Amino acid sequence: VNISVDASKSKKISDLLIGAFFEDINYAADGGLYAELIQNRDFEYTVSDKKGRDQNWNSKYAWDVSGNGISFSIDSVSPIHINNKHYAVLNISQQGASFTNKGYDGIAVKGGEKYYLSLFTKVLNGKGGKLSIRLKDKNGKTVAESQIKTGSTDWKKQEIILSAKETSAETILEITPEFTGKVALDMVSLFPQNTFKGHRNGLRADLAQTIADIHPRFVRFPGGCVTHGDGLHNIYQWKNTIGSLESRISQGNIWNYHQSMGLGYFEYFQFCEDMGAEPLPVIAAGVPCQNSGTGGAGQQGGVPMEEMGQYIQDILDLVEYANGDVKTTWGKKRAEAGHPKPFNLKYIGIGNEDLITDVFEDRFTMIYNALKEKHPEITVIGTVGPFCEGTDYEEGWDVASRLHVPMVDEHYYQTPGWFIHNQDFYDKYDRSKSKVYLGEYASHVPGRHNNMETALSEALYMTSLERNGDVVSMSSYAPLLAKEKYTNWNPDLIYFNNTEVKLTPGYYVQKLYGQNAGNEYLPSIISTNETNNSAKVRVGKSIVRDNKTGDIIIKLVNMLPVAVDTKINMGDISITDTNAQKTVLQGQPDDKTPTPVVSDFKVGKEFNNELPPYSFTVIRIKAQ
Ligand code: AHR
Repeated sequence: VNISVDASKSKKISDLLIGAFFEDINYAADGGLYAELIQNRDFEYTVSDKKGRDQNWNSKYAWDVSGNGISFSIDSVSPIHINNKHYAVLNISQQGASFTNKGYDGIAVKGGEKYYLSLFTKVLNGKGGKLSIRLKDKNGKTVAESQIKTGSTDWKKQEIILSAKETSAETILEITPEFTGKVALDMVSLFPQNTFKGHRNGLRADLAQTIADIHPRFVRFPGGCVTHGDGLHNIYQWKNTIGSLESRISQGNIWNYHQSMGLGYFEYFQFCEDMGAEPLPVIAAGVPCQNSGTGGAGQQGGVPMEEMGQYIQDILDLVEYANGDVKTTWGKKRAEAGHPKPFNLKYIGIGNEDLITDVFEDRFTMIYNALKEKHPEITVIGTVGPFCEGTDYEEGWDVASRLHVPMVDEHYYQTPGWFIHNQDFYDKYDRSKSKVYLGEYASHVPGRHNNMETALSEALYMTSLERNGDVVSMSSYAPLLAKEKYTNWNPDLIYFNNTEVKLTPGYYVQKLYGQNAGNEYLPSIISTNETNNSAKVRVGKSIVRDNKTGDIIIKLVNMLPVAVDTKINMGDISITDTNAQKTVLQGQPDDKTPTPVVSDFKVGKEFNNELPPYSFTVIRIKAQ
């Protein structure tokens, strides 16, 4: 195969092409990225969180008592905050028994590390006294311990540090009252001191770093379907997710569990800032999933028209929260949370692969017009839903074109074959219409873990995203995270459990693209003696320049079962013989755990390179 670069026809491409899409699916937030180790810390789990109405999924979930002489009930007569109604009441008739939390399948701790334990208590009967707090491993051995004193008859927050003496993957929290009487507890929380960038109420360091390593140029949050929820009551409301943790309003999750909202909009903005990524919040377009809401007469499926004014105001307030001066109502709240500087929000998504009906269009138009009028500086990203048979993709585009929406969010989950044979998908796009945010995509056979075959078909397709980086402005693989044993959706980019992060071939493809992105596309011509088209489409290339560093990056994909010799001619680009960095990801199609191999590689004006069978190669040539 010969590849000749023609830099004279170079074009500018988006510098936001590779991003990340975070959704609280597969226990990605609570029990996942959000570093809280106590499950149901606020006693707000409810039977209605779960579609099957599991009776055990209630305020007591994950909590228990051990030993005799202690009973535990739930009350809501006098909560810490009206938004956090339920709390535990311990009735202690005899000392020695304990109140326990099992975490998310255990609480993993590392020897030598420190953990913040905080809780609210209120003495209801008696004088109170000491609470011994311990983390105990499976054999009942104490791994960390300390004490706090109760006594106040009003809610009182206290915090102590627990130092883990040894590593254990599965401890439980044990709270042992050293007194008799009655005490109320709420917001029982345990966080590692070592969170991503050391933030309080922070993120799990290993998982957050794994995402940061992709070098995402933006992060979309909080979903996906989580954004629009499974009914009007379940639409994600950003205002419920900011402020003190005890004042946030938790709710059921469309993926059938509970969202504590401890990971809320402030934390999302902060995570983006920490990674140097643009924040991309997505807000429901006034309609829930499949327009399944039940409004008043004529409103079926969407937020009732008489409530749309407030609904839109909430979206305008989000811009003020992110960008407004500290003297504004919402800018002040951001400052109170510890961030007086604006977050510099530039993009807002409205809608998530919704049914394109009048109900949708009316509400989308109202929101879009209001944002355009009040915040012309914000780029609104509309939705055209999934590209596949029987969906509203065309109608979505019609709405976007009518309104001149600057960018639309497309989604598709397709087979490896689809990605291989549709590399011209965006070559045909009308450049005068909306730009594209490919907000969700993955190559997969449903239910199957991603492997080299799916990852290489994505790498191949992504060469076409770079080639079309003048119309495709952003892209993000979905879903990002999945906790083992709690996976609603397969495949995912990153799997994890309480102690490990498991990377997939698809992850390495995203990371190699993210770390080797460019903002100038250098067209090239590929020629081969091969006549079989099916073989031809299995070899792909993309050459870009990163104008910040001046580096040139060559990406080469070989999905054939044989090695392919390539001769690369750099054309007019002046390159003297030098050492470049070559990274190769290679494996059999069903391999799930290949890792990239990095080596030095000699390049010049013209050079040869053999692409191993089933491989993705990135050659990075430093600016000269
Ligand atoms: O990525 C998983 C789900 O797929 C998203 O929540 C939704 O937008 C899409 O249907």
